Amino acid sequence: MWLRRDVGRDVGRDMGRDTGASPSLSSIERHHNARWHHGQGPERDHMETWDAIRARRNVREYKPEPVSEADLNRIAEAGWRAPSAKNRQPWDFVIVTDPTQLKELSTVWRGAGHIATAAAAIVLVVPVPPDDRRLVTDNYDVGQATMAMMIAATDLGIGTGHSSVGDQEKARAILGVPDDHLVAFMLGLGYPADRPLTVIRKPNRRPVDEVVHRGHW
Ligand SMILES: Cc1cc2nc3c(=O)[nH]c(=O)nc-3n(C[C@H](O)[C@H](O)[C@H](O)COP(=O)(O)O)c2cc1C
Repeated sequence: MWLRRDVGRDVGRDMGRDTGASPSLSSIERHHNARWHHGQGPERDHMETWDAIRARRNVREYKPEPVSEADLNRIAEAGWRAPSAKNRQPWDFVIVTDPTQLKELSTVWRGAGHIATAAAAIVLVVPVPPDDRRLVTDNYDVGQATMAMMIAATDLGIGTGHSSVGDQEKARAILGVPDDHLVAFMLGLGYPADRPLTVIRKPNRRPVDEVVHRGHW
């Protein structure tokens, strides 16, 4: 995967690499470019995906800078490529960049405030589930698509922030979604205004030994 210069530079520093040699290109990028430009493709010591996984966090404050069409398409493609139960691909994605629509969407849930100032949002829509089993698998599928999009965005230096949806009628009306579909989740997108996306050394998580079991509970 590709890391934007600012992400790569910080990640390189975080990993104890010397990134001072070039003011414009991180060591990760130089390494990456050299491999690709020589037609060798990625190799086992390429850690860009691992960096993006560790740098992702919910970003809820965005710079006014827009996210390019190409980047939005790549992020949506990451979701489109996600796996799903029986390859059902229950989702539709609505890319929203209109500031008026974004402001309206920020009112469909109490935790959606950040959508108002996002440069864009990708809204995940699924059919109303016919039964409990489908509810579980569709939720799982949407979660996987969301995470793929978040990682792809982080890789581009673009912040993402989830939001649930409370008022279905309003959300449907804003987006023109038919009644037999649910507006499942929204993902705010934009360049972080708080701090850059860099590897998080101590994430706010339960201790890993408490979470990860080996062989049995
Ligand atoms: C299913 C789900 C729903 C979420 N809903 C919201 C939301 O409505 N508003 C919000 O600001 N964050 C929402 N979040 C973000 C979580 O609060 C966040 O992922 C969690 O606190 C961990 O923080 P991190 O993503 O920065 O690591 C949601 C996350 C998930 C997985």
